[in-house]
Amino acid sequence: MDDGALAFRSGSPVRFPFTPAVEAETAPLWDKVKARVTPLEWRAHAPLIAEINRLKRDKGAVILAHNYMTPEIFHGVGDYVGDSLGLAREAQRSDAKVIVQAGVHFMAETSKVLCPDKRVLIPDPLAGCSLASSITAADVRMIKARYPGVPVVTYVNTTAEVKAETDICCTSANAVQVVEAAAAEWGTDRCILIPDEFLARNVARQTAVKIIAWAGHCEVHERFTAEDIRELRAAYPGAEILAHPECPAEVIEAADFAGSTAAMGEYVSRRRPAQVVMITECSMASNVQADSPETSFIGPCNLCPHMKRISLENIYEALVHDRYEVTIDPVIAERARAAVQRMIDLPPPAQPARYDLVKARHHVDVELI
Ligand code: 13P
Ligand code: SF4
Repeated sequence: MDDGALAFRSGSPVRFPFTPAVEAETAPLWDKVKARVTPLEWRAHAPLIAEINRLKRDKGAVILAHNYMTPEIFHGVGDYVGDSLGLAREAQRSDAKVIVQAGVHFMAETSKVLCPDKRVLIPDPLAGCSLASSITAADVRMIKARYPGVPVVTYVNTTAEVKAETDICCTSANAVQVVEAAAAEWGTDRCILIPDEFLARNVARQTAVKIIAWAGHCEVHERFTAEDIRELRAAYPGAEILAHPECPAEVIEAADFAGSTAAMGEYVSRRRPAQVVMITECSMASNVQADSPETSFIGPCNLCPHMKRISLENIYEALVHDRYEVTIDPVIAERARAAVQRMIDLPPPAQPARYDLVKARHHVDVELI
């Protein structure tokens, strides 16, 4: 095979060879990913990684990479990596002029909402999310008319238009904290938590606040079942099973631990289990593997087709061509910023929330809109 990478500059193919200089420059990165990336693949990735890191320096850009990016992106070019909450905080802290969001569109919008003066680029504007597309701003206006006086908490996996109609945002790392803070501030025992039905049900089990939910689902996490967990336990006795709270409650109940993508990563690095199953998107385990070489990771996982639209090639093209810039109507952005900022201003959780449905005291159901 011909070593090196192929990318496009102004529509014309450009070849980046795997030279000894590239090999030496990227050797520390290769060390991190070699448990998950073959030498053959690395010879194709490394030249683009070196080129992207050079372009970032030239353009004063940073790359915010979500935990679901493939390892060559996550470890190779990500300046800040993490879950949705962590990336939103980093966008705001960074003094870079340009942010390239290696994640999906709602994440890039969140960065733009928080940093109106920065240029925010998304390598593929079609990188969507089934949760973000499950609800519109008109839906939220209808919900508010139906439940006057009840605070609206919106999961960060939503468009800026939806966030603009909202009182406060949350992520899976702080949803219980946000719901309780909103209910206390509004002086009510009810809270609207949209659009993820399963996250809402998992939150409802852990708080006395009554939750009103929307029937949106993550197409990646909704597919896991309790039967999958039973089969995995039978096949891999002793393996620890970690799940994301976008999974149905029956999956969270059957798992050993549930939390945001950052919380799952922390669990592995703190406890160093011998064997782990991550009930979430596939790249998560590959990325955690780099820092936990003694843990062996077992499937299954589901690919997020939206996250997988982001590649080294389109990150390179984003930097070369300054594309695709995320723009938001300033009035919408200002209103969305209030909701995101209200979340960020809450005291940061000592550690991302854990969803323990087995110990949960409140076995209450949600009201589905
Ligand atoms: P986290 O906030 O846990 O990173 O989750 C984002 C996401 O899209 C999960 O599907
Ligand atoms: Fe959206 Fe699910 Fe993909 Fe996350 S994994 S971006 S929630 S579709």
